[in-house]
Amino acid sequence: MLSYQHEYHAGNHADVLKHSVLALVLAALLRKDKPLRVFDAHAGSGLYDLGGREARRHAEYRDGIARVLAAADAPPTLAPYLDAVHACNAGGALRRYPGSPWLARSLLRPADHLVLMELHPQALTALRRLFGQDPQVHLHERDCFEGLPALLPPPERRGLVLIDPSYELKDDYRRVVGLLEACHRRWPTGVYLLWYPLLRDRPGARLPARVTALGLRRIYQVAIEVEGEGHEGLRGSGLLAVNLPWGVDAGIAALAPWLWRSLSPQGRGRWTAGWLVPE
Ligand SMILES: C[S@@+](CC[C@H](N)C(=O)[O-])C[C@H]1O[C@@H](n2cnc3c(N)ncnc32)[C@H](O)[C@@H]1O
Repeated sequence: MLSYQHEYHAGNHADVLKHSVLALVLAALLRKDKPLRVFDAHAGSGLYDLGGREARRHAEYRDGIARVLAAADAPPTLAPYLDAVHACNAGGALRRYPGSPWLARSLLRPADHLVLMELHPQALTALRRLFGQDPQVHLHERDCFEGLPALLPPPERRGLVLIDPSYELKDDYRRVVGLLEACHRRWPTGVYLLWYPLLRDRPGARLPARVTALGLRRIYQVAIEVEGEGHEGLRGSGLLAVNLPWGVDAGIAALAPWLWRSLSPQGRGRWTAGWLVPE
């Protein structure tokens, strides 16, 4: 039984990194006319009420999206993400936060498709309410470790896979690497984004090396740490991008230091951005 609920963490520094890079990569893919398909293997609830009981519990968004919105001189590469945040907050005040399904759906064109996988009953109810009538969104109540490779490659042969587990189960650190390998074998030209947490005594920091050992090409890494290594709790997070579209590396390299300065005003932690494996 899964107990993790993203409602408690919506809009935190890890979401800011994950969603700003996701929006940037999607915006780059959408520059070509051809239709694409986005797979969100761990969908969560789709859209989060920041005034809800769960989000208010630790109010993690205050040290995340709220800091970004308050900062000056956002780089142009942040625009696709900020547009989505503003789009779900008509009236200006920050009340709702877009999860990856809502963010991706807000960017897609009429011929594009979004595939969501989720197992938590509460998240599934929220996703059905948001997207149940949407012919471009395909919701699967299915374990992504089994279900995602079975759906690849997509008919469009263009698109992106987001792998974003909660790492509630320690085995997920091992299983995501196997999942990425299985998906890449079936669809070598897909774009893959794999999110990982940086926590003391957890193997997240070893994931980049494990993914590199798969022997894939074009692997880019970006990470934002807002606390030092001894910190209890989530000190930061990273994303590994396989087959990052051309030109997006420069956008991420410009974004990462700005995000770190905005999310860590005391200058704790660090940022990392660069190719682990080039072409
Ligand atoms: C970190 S949250 C996802 C957040 C979401 N991707 C976002 O960025 O807004 C992880 C989600 O994965 C779901 N999950 C965990 N294991 C799963 C599995 N094997 N297959 C599909 N979903 C799973 C959990 O129920 C949880 O809602």
